Amino acid sequence: MSIATQTRTAFEIVPLTRHIGAELRGIDLRGKPDEETVRAIYQAWLDHLVIIFPEQELSQQDLVRVTGYFGEIGELSRPAKYFPKGYSQLLPGIMLISNIRENGEPIGALPDGEMMFHHDMIHAAVPSKATLLYSVEIPSAGGNTLFASGYAAYDSLDPGVRARLEDRKALHHYNYGSTSRGDSKGTEAFGECVHPVFRTHEDTGRKAVYVNRLMTVKILDLPDDESERLLNVLWDHSEKREFVYEHVWRKGDLLLWDNRCSSHARTDFPSTERRLMLRTTVKGTVGPY
Ligand SMILES: [Fe+2]
Repeated sequence: MSIATQTRTAFEIVPLTRHIGAELRGIDLRGKPDEETVRAIYQAWLDHLVIIFPEQELSQQDLVRVTGYFGEIGELSRPAKYFPKGYSQLLPGIMLISNIRENGEPIGALPDGEMMFHHDMIHAAVPSKATLLYSVEIPSAGGNTLFASGYAAYDSLDPGVRARLEDRKALHHYNYGSTSRGDSKGTEAFGECVHPVFRTHEDTGRKAVYVNRLMTVKILDLPDDESERLLNVLWDHSEKREFVYEHVWRKGDLLLWDNRCSSHARTDFPSTERRLMLRTTVKGTVGPY
């Protein structure tokens, strides 16, 4: 099923799974779309949580401008002394995700392999609303991104589990650069924050599961063993394939995802091959409630 839109820049919305992901075809983001088209893109994003703009040829300036269609561009969160080497060649707000090394030193952040499901910046008081990721160089296989719908997970959650966790809060902790729960791969810089276990999306009014395997430490005011058991139930449920879209990257893909109602993970890829992506974020406007 695809839906043709009635805006001046006609584009096609092609849903990719039942719950999450749609490809928007026929938009060249080097030119600025009219306001009506920007609104239609924004609505498609709210409807599908993750949208893909294929076959783009974007400069850093283009990426910064496109980010602005969805809100205010976010600053980099990790302290400057932990910036990888390649960051000196980037416009403010652009982060380099790469495994490429120069003289043995990684040029970008999050260089290696598999990464557990997470919501970007859930460890901040006002987490990023959205993340944009643009592929410049991709390996021949692997390095896919999996996106899970937090709405679908919430809507289908066991009623007993939901009742036990409704109105509870969870603690999140993240060491920048770590890729699995509690590993020692990250820097010593970290963020920590408490948010509701189920988050209400301020634009759609829908509720989503808002904990993740990488960053959530515990549910507050529950015995440790019960907290751990319920977190495992939530993670296993949220990551079910039926709620997930797996994106196989092509060079020139620009993806935009909603951190308020979806989480994402990365599959492993050959460390011998180059992977280079540019990332920006859109600032959140409210703390999770
Ligand atoms: Fe992420």
